[in-house]
Amino acid sequence: MSAGTVLCRFDELVDGEARGFDPQKGGQDTLFGVRRGSRLYLYRDLCPHATSPMAWRKDEYLNRRRDRIVCFAHGAQFEIETGRCLLGPCIGQSLQAVAHAIDDRGNVRLV
Ligand code: FES
Repeated sequence: MSAGTVLCRFDELVDGEARGFDPQKGGQDTLFGVRRGSRLYLYRDLCPHATSPMAWRKDEYLNRRRDRIVCFAHGAQFEIETGRCLLGPCIGQSLQAVAHAIDDRGNVRLV
């Protein structure tokens, strides 16, 4: 991942939903973000339990209530705002946050 890479426009993201990103164009999402209002929480798509990708299909990173991130491999649940595991086999560990910014054109950029 290189700084300055544009992931998408912020207004393309659906409030309350998650979306995966493949900035290296490798054919598999390596980052994902969850939009909540005017904030975006961006993480590496790498569960701390077994360093595995977390979605069971494209963009499916949240539980049914849309209030926690879920790893579908073994069910770990993470707080959206902090990435901290609250339940499951990696409790107390955290997702890796990814630095980003929204530029003056409304693009989400890696920094
Ligand atoms: S790999 Fe995520 S909970 Fe096991």
